[in-house]
Amino acid sequence: MLQRTFSIIKPDAFRKRYAGAILAEIEKAGFKIVAIKRLSISKTQAEGFYYVHKDRPFFPSLTTFMSSGPIIPMVLEKDNAIADLRKLMGATNPANAEEGTIRRKFAASIEENAIHGSDAEDTAKFEIGYFFAGYELA
Ligand code: CMP
Repeated sequence: MLQRTFSIIKPDAFRKRYAGAILAEIEKAGFKIVAIKRLSISKTQAEGFYYVHKDRPFFPSLTTFMSSGPIIPMVLEKDNAIADLRKLMGATNPANAEEGTIRRKFAASIEENAIHGSDAEDTAKFEIGYFFAGYELA
């Protein structure tokens, strides 16, 4: 089933100039880039995006990190996009990520883990809508 997911190249990967290499991995894996942009977000905007994690101990640090520099949010499309992107990214903690995954190659720590990908249909919908207007997805 053709499906869309949402992804972010995070500030750590952007700072290290890994954005192009990560995009190449994504395209090589068969994803179509439907929408993409580069922007910086405020701490408040990061808190809104990660609201589901508001009670987790890492929430303050995560939202400071996500607002620490430019990010690249994007909408990706392919069959089974949500699960396939998560597989391509690897485990949240790069120490546990399989060989060949994006986090294994490009992530430094469980927090500064290079890339985000939606974990389900409903979160993908929320996350796409958080960063992109309908006209940007036509
Ligand atoms: P992401 O897939 O964007 O979803 C939530 C983010 O919180 C996660 O990637 C990490 O960047 C961060 N995160 C998750 N677990 C931890 C943790 N135990 N300590 C610090 N950051 C975490």
